[in-house]
Amino acid sequence: MTGELDINTQHHYLKAMGIDLWVSRDAEIKPKPSWQSLESAVAGCRRCDLCQTRQQTVFGRGHQQAPLMLIGEAPGAEEDRQGLPFVGRAGQLLDKMIAAVGLSHDRVYIANLLKCRPPSNRDPKPEEMNECQAYLQAQIQLLKPKLILALGRVSAHHLLKVDTPLSRLRGREYRLGERPLWVSYHPAYLLRNPADKARAYEDWLKIADLLKSL
Ligand code: URA
Repeated sequence: MTGELDINTQHHYLKAMGIDLWVSRDAEIKPKPSWQSLESAVAGCRRCDLCQTRQQTVFGRGHQQAPLMLIGEAPGAEEDRQGLPFVGRAGQLLDKMIAAVGLSHDRVYIANLLKCRPPSNRDPKPEEMNECQAYLQAQIQLLKPKLILALGRVSAHHLLKVDTPLSRLRGREYRLGERPLWVSYHPAYLLRNPADKARAYEDWLKIADLLKSL
C-alpha cells in the first residue's frame, strides 16, 4: 500500500491507545493487541469530535479468523444504535450478496474506516479517517485476512490513496501492504442505483472464486 502507516507513526498511535508493543529480534516493532484490548481501546476513544455525538462505538462483526475482510465507510444510525456494522438496510443487502455467492458467515469479517457515526450520515472527514486508521490497521493485523474488499468510494479512496471513480477501480487487484485488496460498490449506493447490482454481483462472484484459490 499506500495506506499502511509507517512504523513510527503506528507505534505512536498504538501507544496512545494503550496497546502493548514488542520488538522482535529483527528489531521490527510489532503491535501486540488482543481483539479484546483493541475493542476496549476503541470503545474509550476520544481522538476526534465524533465521540461527542456517537451513542456507542461500532467495532466490527464476523469471524475473527475469516479469510475475507470487508471495509465499509462509517456506521449509520442503526449501527450506532446496535453497536454493530452493517445492520441497517445496506447491511441487509450486504448479507444477501454474501449469501448469494455461497459465502458462509464464518468466512467474513466486517469493519468500517470509522468506528463512530458521523452526524446526519455526512461523509467522514479526512482527519477523522486518519485518527481512526490505526484501529483499522490493528484489526487487519489481528485478522490477517487473505483478501480485503473495500466497499464504496470513500473506503476505496482512503485505503488506496487515489481519487479515481469507483467504477474504474473495480475488477482488478490492488495491495494493502502485502494483502490483496479489491474494490466494489457500497451496498447503500446499490440501494439507490439498483441497475449496478448486476455488476456488484460479478465482483462478488470473482471474490468468492478467488477465496477458493487462496
Ligand atoms: N454503511 C457503512 O459504510 N458502514 C456501516 O456499518 C453501515 C452503513
